[in-house]
Amino acid sequence: MKPIKVGLLGLGTVGTGVVRIVEGHQEDLQSQVGSPIVIEKVLVQNKSKSRGIHVNPDKLTEDPWDIVNDPEIDVIVEVMGGIENTRTYILEALARGKHIVTANKDLMAVHGPEILTKAHEHGCDVLYEASVAGGIPIIRTLIEGFSSDRITKIMGIVNGTTNFILTKMSKEGAAYDVVLKEAQELGYAEADPTSDVEGLDAARKMTILASLGFRSDVSLEDVDVKGISKVSREDIAYAKRLGYEMKLLGIAERQDDYISVAVQPTMVKNSHPIASVNGVFNAVYVYGEAVGETMFYGAGAGELPTATSVVADLVAVVKNLRLGVNGKQLTLTYKEKKLKTDEQ
Ligand code: NAP
Ligand code: HSE
Repeated sequence: MKPIKVGLLGLGTVGTGVVRIVEGHQEDLQSQVGSPIVIEKVLVQNKSKSRGIHVNPDKLTEDPWDIVNDPEIDVIVEVMGGIENTRTYILEALARGKHIVTANKDLMAVHGPEILTKAHEHGCDVLYEASVAGGIPIIRTLIEGFSSDRITKIMGIVNGTTNFILTKMSKEGAAYDVVLKEAQELGYAEADPTSDVEGLDAARKMTILASLGFRSDVSLEDVDVKGISKVSREDIAYAKRLGYEMKLLGIAERQDDYISVAVQPTMVKNSHPIASVNGVFNAVYVYGEAVGETMFYGAGAGELPTATSVVADLVAVVKNLRLGVNGKQLTLTYKEKKLKTDEQ
């Protein structure tokens, strides 16, 4: 079978994991999709930077159009981050019939509907499992696993960096700045970690989860956001004395036709399973009217857990290619949204 050629935009934390998994699991992947998956070209900012992985230097490019315009490339895996330039590359790639896998919640939370509509028009797939909760397959679960139910609540820890920081502050009495630096070194934090610590990253993820879970048009501006930058070691110690752990929670609720979405530091009772989600781990609690309570747990950031979701999406795109059903995933038929206010 003809190899599937992939253009990789970005070779940082996640991109490196994608290369490792595609190369390391090649035989397993091939047995599922029937053809080799080849990373043909890789976009970086700086070709001469030394990296913890060997990639044939001939494959590296600093020009995104080398990949977007390459007729040989079937699928683009976007793990470079950013919003406006990245949106342009993705829309142009879709116009050229390329399928997209992305880990970019910043982009999907704001331009998701536009990108999915364009994909539909061009018969292309756009999959974005890694954009929320790293290695936990929560997007697929909301779209497929709960298609038969009516979800009324989605709640959880969806940012690994802040959970790592709060855990170390709580368990080791560590200082905020020191642990934030550690999270950056481990590749958990965003290029600008302000979006992690001020809750914006979690808000973007909750926008995606609430839109999918409630089949509605939740937008980022609808999310009430507070981060952890003002949470002190004293606050955490005080919560502990009362029998609580401090967690940055995303909480999305639907009551009748009203929706509310918020991200805020929250004191979680020790007996609740979310209180024992520590370090970079994420957990997402989903309540459906028929299924009742469910919870999903796993690494929420980092090289290999995130790349697992990216490569699973890549496999799904290639399976669709084999079946000739790309672009058949339904974009949401958005219901009119009403926001819940304090008076309701
Ligand atoms: P990263 O380590 O900063 O890597 C970004 C990569 O993209 C680098 O290889 C960089 O090139 C390249 N790049 C960035 N801007 C570029 C530009 N304008 N032109 C060419 N190349 C460019 O980022 P990351 O942590 O892998 O995250 C990538 C994406 O995945 C982001 O959207 C992030 O939100 C998302 N994500 C990350 C995680 C995680 O745990 N890190 C988890 C889930 C989702 P150089 O190497 O030459 O600098
Ligand atoms: N910075 C993000 C986090 C990466 O810490 O959760 C995963 O989306």
